[in-house]
Amino acid sequence: MRVGLLTGGGDCPGLNAVIGAVVKKGIQQYGDEFVGFLEGWRGVLDNNTIPLTLDTVDGIITKGGTILRTSRTNVRKIEGGVEKCVATLKANKIDALIAIGGDDTQSVTNALIQAGVPGVGVPKTIDNDLNGTDVCFGFDTAVGIATEAIDRLHTTAEAHNRVIVCEVMGRDAGWIALTAGVAGNAHVVLVPERPIDLDHVCKLLKYNHDHGKKYGIVVVAEGAKLPSGGQATVGTKLDAFGHAQLSGIAAALASEIEKKTGYETRSVNLGHTQRGGSPSAYDRMLATRYGLAAIDLVHEGKFGQLVVLHGTKIESIPIAEAISKNRTVDASFLKILDALEPKV
Ligand code: F6P
Repeated sequence: MRVGLLTGGGDCPGLNAVIGAVVKKGIQQYGDEFVGFLEGWRGVLDNNTIPLTLDTVDGIITKGGTILRTSRTNVRKIEGGVEKCVATLKANKIDALIAIGGDDTQSVTNALIQAGVPGVGVPKTIDNDLNGTDVCFGFDTAVGIATEAIDRLHTTAEAHNRVIVCEVMGRDAGWIALTAGVAGNAHVVLVPERPIDLDHVCKLLKYNHDHGKKYGIVVVAEGAKLPSGGQATVGTKLDAFGHAQLSGIAAALASEIEKKTGYETRSVNLGHTQRGGSPSAYDRMLATRYGLAAIDLVHEGKFGQLVVLHGTKIESIPIAEAISKNRTVDASFLKILDALEPKV
């Protein structure tokens, strides 16, 4: 078969591991040929391709980013976009398309499937918020980076008797904040799933202060709602999928906390450090398993499906189900935060 491959949306550690696994198994086991579309859906619209061979993918499992590069191109917002993509795939004699991406990318895969394209999906996002899978690759790496950063913030905050508010990624879901916050022994963890009660945050920091620790670490997800309402954004521009650029909640909270408590407070935004660099061993392995399962789906003719992790097993679900809603932090995980919090 001639199989097309693309990576869409924000990059994520492990994308190259998926590409490598798909191409290796496709060529060695099934005798496939591969066409890589560059820069996500833009490459399909513009017919911008590279051949993918065993040589191209050799050793890429260790590398961050994506050898296919990526973009947030929304084909559905472009007039005639779906038809243009269908024409490009036809011109390249593509028998099946594998799209590696989060909910935005998979919403385009779904539109193309409805237009008759045989497509399968692989779930990607460091935010870990794609519905229907227990884990997206990239999340583990992001949590590792954030946890290491929080560990480092403890010592500098303690040395200066400061509060430090650390902003991590997580547009709709607080999985990174929750996991890295708990693992990094943050004193306060704030997620989009819960309104922020600033008085309660300050009480927790004061409790800490009065019990021997004259410093505090607050971890906040970028998408958490400001106590004054809304999310902290940069400008008002929206991307092609209607998302604002989130940033600034840590700085906003730091200034409020300093005002309310009198404790010297700083903020730091970990931003894209969480997305860059080499994937963790866990993500390399998960991404490899996803890639191997995706090329199997293609050869089983199971189009319209997304590979997912359920427990320890790789399975598949309809892409339509995966993009129907976000997987946010549920009550059982929020209870972890409650259980660890002192009674103030
Ligand atoms: O991919 C998801 C994500 O990492 C979000 O957490 C974040 O808000 C967004 O991407 C940032 O995207 P960009 O790199 O396009 O600014």
